[in-house]
Amino acid sequence: MTAVDDPVLVVDFGAQYARLIARRVREAHVYSEIVAPTLSAAEILSRRPRGIILSGGPKSVYETPAPTIDPELARSGVPILGICYGAQLLAQELGGTVSRTGRGEYGRTTMTVTAPSPLFGEWPAESVVWMSHGDSITDVPAGFVATARSAESAVAAFHDAERRIYGVQFHPEVVHTERGSEMLEHFLFDICGAAPTWTHVSIIEQQVAAVRRQVGAERVLCALSGGVDSAVAAAVVHKAVGDQLTCVFVDTGLMRAGEAEQVEETFRRQFHIDLVHVKAADRYFDALAGVTDPEEKRKIIGALFIRIFEEVARDLGAGSGDEGPRFLVQGTLYPDVIESGTGQAASIKSHHNVGGLPPDLGFELVEPLRLLFKDEVRAVGEELGLPHEIVWRQPFPGPGLAVRIVGEVTRERAEVLRAADAVVVEEVRRAGLYRQLWQSFAVLPAVRTVGVMGDGRTYAYPIVIRAVTSDDAMTADWARLPYELVERIASRIINEVDGVNRVALDVTSKPPGTIEWE
Ligand code: XMP
Repeated sequence: MTAVDDPVLVVDFGAQYARLIARRVREAHVYSEIVAPTLSAAEILSRRPRGIILSGGPKSVYETPAPTIDPELARSGVPILGICYGAQLLAQELGGTVSRTGRGEYGRTTMTVTAPSPLFGEWPAESVVWMSHGDSITDVPAGFVATARSAESAVAAFHDAERRIYGVQFHPEVVHTERGSEMLEHFLFDICGAAPTWTHVSIIEQQVAAVRRQVGAERVLCALSGGVDSAVAAAVVHKAVGDQLTCVFVDTGLMRAGEAEQVEETFRRQFHIDLVHVKAADRYFDALAGVTDPEEKRKIIGALFIRIFEEVARDLGAGSGDEGPRFLVQGTLYPDVIESGTGQAASIKSHHNVGGLPPDLGFELVEPLRLLFKDEVRAVGEELGLPHEIVWRQPFPGPGLAVRIVGEVTRERAEVLRAADAVVVEEVRRAGLYRQLWQSFAVLPAVRTVGVMGDGRTYAYPIVIRAVTSDDAMTADWARLPYELVERIASRIINEVDGVNRVALDVTSKPPGTIEWE
């Protein structure tokens, strides 16, 4: 995905804040990107930004070294908005005072507007904002005026309208700030003069054009996993280059119920995409026979996936000269790019990329989702007509059901788990909770327990229900599913799934547990 012109750049002083600001700007249909504070003013200005937003962050301007910006930025004439730490930094850099007053503000705060500001427009005198700061701005720099205060902040907002430099101590990007989005829109539209042109339709148009430019008349391969990212990436590339695209779906025998059929139905029958469906379950179960160590399972599954993919690519003529595919589609998203790119983000996820392909396969990568957040990917997927079931599917690990089958992975145990998992998913959907949960699935432990059914004693597997809420999978809370739902799931699993005589609920958060059992 190539760069978009006239972005609003968010300078990253704290990953989570910067990310939320960038998303809010995009929700106003203005394209935004996150950049590292270590970039020079020349590097930042070479992107020809419409505006620059300095994010909040966990540091204090008194720390050494405190992250800072190139002073040239403030002289560039490009509109700047500093938020929280960003505002304090502006105040300090431009000659104002930031003090350790010992009276921080955290959470809901009433703010009083004390002077008119284009940022606030027609705001009432008082409104509720969200604060989170220890240090406070006590004097504005020369040429600036304070435009708002709160109980503990003499300067809750300030600006120099002529130089188009603005600072706010509160967080307009969080929903608890009553008029936060409105304030960001004033900055984007009234102060920066941006236009609301970043829409799902324009995203698709730009990416389709970029893929066509990159690929030309050559052939492209895409590995489909059944998940939303690879599906949307494939759909975008297909819109761009039609039958130059071949998709490969490897059925490992470790997919969720109905997943392989859904991929067939959507890509082959609905989109008429050239689909190579490799039925490889036997090879996977053979390779996994007798293996119980989780990391070894992952390695075996990852290596086999790559081997199979290479076989398919070779059959299609890859590497044999002009005819074979030279390009490979990858569903990389913007958060992955930020993590490796701006250098500020506390590492959010370093996932064992099992089920993915290594970069050294000799293909040139096509990454049409590289600049998109997950919600944008979903919106693009819907716009392109992908089924809701794919677009809204919960994340699924590359190694599939194997990391939810504790102990040996056999065809028989995979069938038991798949059937139990289908019940969990169906009932969670029916209860209207599927989209609220980060993940909800079944786990098959490596024990059997005694039970009684009818007149007889049983000795069969338990199934564990695992359901979590999370924002990014780094931390997760166990989901408080309604008891009626738990009961329905349990009784259906025991009645419908052969080989199961007991159901338990996992009430472990992450940390200390992980989301998956292996
Ligand atoms: P854990 O279990 O570490 O999982 O809390 C966090 C998130 O990552 C997914 N996950 C994986 N994804 N390959 C993947 O592509 C893997 O080996 C893998 N292991 C876990 C998991 O489903 C959850 O969303």
